[in-house]
Amino acid sequence: MTQILTDLSESALRSVAARLRAGDVVAFPTETVYGLGAHAGLERAVSRIFEIKGRPAQDPLIVHCAGLAHTKQYLSSAVTGWQRRAHENLGSCFWPGPLTLILPCHSSLIVPSVSAGTGWVGLRCPAHPVAQRFLELCDVPVAAPSANLFGHVSPTLAQHVHDDFPSVDNLWIVDGGACGFGIESTVVRLNGDETVDVLRRGGVGREQILGSLCDAGLLPRNELGAARVRVVERYVKSQTDMSQLASPGQLLVHYAPNVFTTLVSATVSEPVDSAAALEHERLKKIIVIDFNRQLERLASLVGAYRDLSEVGDPKVLAHDLFSALRWAEDVALGRPDWQVWLFNPRMASGLLEDEIFLAVADRIYRAASGRNQNITIRPDSDRVFV
Ligand code: TXA
Ligand code: MG
Repeated sequence: MTQILTDLSESALRSVAARLRAGDVVAFPTETVYGLGAHAGLERAVSRIFEIKGRPAQDPLIVHCAGLAHTKQYLSSAVTGWQRRAHENLGSCFWPGPLTLILPCHSSLIVPSVSAGTGWVGLRCPAHPVAQRFLELCDVPVAAPSANLFGHVSPTLAQHVHDDFPSVDNLWIVDGGACGFGIESTVVRLNGDETVDVLRRGGVGREQILGSLCDAGLLPRNELGAARVRVVERYVKSQTDMSQLASPGQLLVHYAPNVFTTLVSATVSEPVDSAAALEHERLKKIIVIDFNRQLERLASLVGAYRDLSEVGDPKVLAHDLFSALRWAEDVALGRPDWQVWLFNPRMASGLLEDEIFLAVADRIYRAASGRNQNITIRPDSDRVFV
């Protein structure tokens, strides 16, 4: 059975690390989200992760280590001098922290299924003190995806992990409280041609990565240097198209709650003639997740309403988004005709250059599977039109 462990003493962490070394799966907190960890050198432990999550075998796992020095042993001899120096530079600047570096890997210490047979491995050193100590005690590379069912909302509390995996044999969840940052790490591939692909936005921004590589003389501080750090944002509709993806996390439907969810952009104006008014009963079956009071006119009209940050703070949004999506699932439990309306990030005009906001916006877009609806609210009444 799944068990939550609240004892974070040295001896408790030592015994759960020993379980991981022996092949058990251990969920642990990081500063981003909870990870579902297994010994990356044991085929049967790694295959349990794919099995428990329902994750396709083509989707590689990130290897977690206590520090930069530990990560070096996993690089293949094919890694160029530039890749090695970029790894060293970004690792020393941003680790421990929310950054994953993808590099060529051919190590007998990591089974090929971790890198999904690609020959490339994602490496990350999380900043959470419990993760740090746990990884030191494990003393083996720890493969860990986010600890949620495949495609579901990532977990930021031990209870979220338990909710997704309530009864799995020998699954241990180390409860380190709420994750500080709240969305997953930035995933960056350091290519052999001395370019950098940001495959997933996260807590470390493209500008920070570029700045760090320029400071170290690894990229020229000019337009040519800037053009070598690209954000690869793709939204791919089905798993059958996965072969075209730079990173399988680019699936359009990802981070999705078990409730029909759509983005909503609201305009306060007179509706056009063809617009249809929404009935009161219909509105009472809608859960609104708002930000910066974009949809506040709906607060008293809908079934449930929550603003993640009335003052529009992207860090608060990152911290609370995933738990709000799970809250919406709880509200809609047993109510199959309820829906979630999520604020549309494109309407937050002042934040479209903010890299944390863009990272959260990416999750929001995928949580709504790319669906978007415009609504009109009449200025002098509470009528809502679609
Ligand atoms: O913050 C995080 O990164 C969390 C915590 C637990 O560390 N982990 C996490 O893992 O988000 P996961 O598996 O849910 O997402 C990792 C993403 C996936 O989109 C995967 O496709 C991509 O990184 N990825 C991992 N290794 C890769 C590789 N070798 N090549 C390309 N993409 C890779
Ligand atoms: Mg994930």
